Amino acid sequence: MYELRSARFLAQEMREKILVPGDTAVDATLGNGYDACDLARLVGPSGHVYGFDIQEKAIHSTRERLTSAGLQDRCTLILSGHEHMREYVSPGVSLIAFNLGWLPGGDKQITTCWETTHAALESALMLLKPGGVCTVCVYPGHDEGSRERDELIRFLSLLRPQQYNVLEQRFLNAGTGAPECLVIQKQLALSSCAGT
Ligand SMILES: C[S@@+](CC[C@H](N)C(=O)[O-])C[C@H]1O[C@@H](n2cnc3c(N)ncnc32)[C@H](O)[C@@H]1O
Repeated sequence: MYELRSARFLAQEMREKILVPGDTAVDATLGNGYDACDLARLVGPSGHVYGFDIQEKAIHSTRERLTSAGLQDRCTLILSGHEHMREYVSPGVSLIAFNLGWLPGGDKQITTCWETTHAALESALMLLKPGGVCTVCVYPGHDEGSRERDELIRFLSLLRPQQYNVLEQRFLNAGTGAPECLVIQKQLALSSCAGT
């Protein structure tokens, strides 16, 4: 039986639908490496995952997780902000995952913030191949998360429908701080008036 579950699960379901062996994916916020492992499994041995985090601790725990799952050879882990994504990744990416906020079990002062998330999203949208998807899980239950969520909605609402479809998933009855998942898909066939 299908069960409606939290934002993270929608992001997970989405990547399972989109990714096929041989694809390139990006984990924009490695954290403890759960998402990276998932992506690496889905792209298979012929695919590749690029992962970013600004904390050494996150790179380390992701590397450990990938190594114990035998998935490390198909991943490149980069100790750098996702706002520099374009310097490391070439266009043609199938899926880019953002799981915003702080490292679970880590320093809550080190959290994603809108200015760098915005720059990273601009790059991510450029790097996606037609039909490619970007998922963004956002946690508005704290001050920066709430600001990030509001700015995200503003930014994504202005994307041209000829170029992207944007979906917002949130539980209406879960209170104001409940996690949300945003899904952006680059249109398969860009309309000829897309650039106007
Ligand atoms: C909620 S955690 C990610 C959870 C992770 N995807 C997992 O599977 O465990 C958010 C991560 O974003 C990282 N982060 C914060 N600012 C960043 C930035 N500018 N670029 C890349 N990562 C950043 C934090 O260090 C933290 O590890």
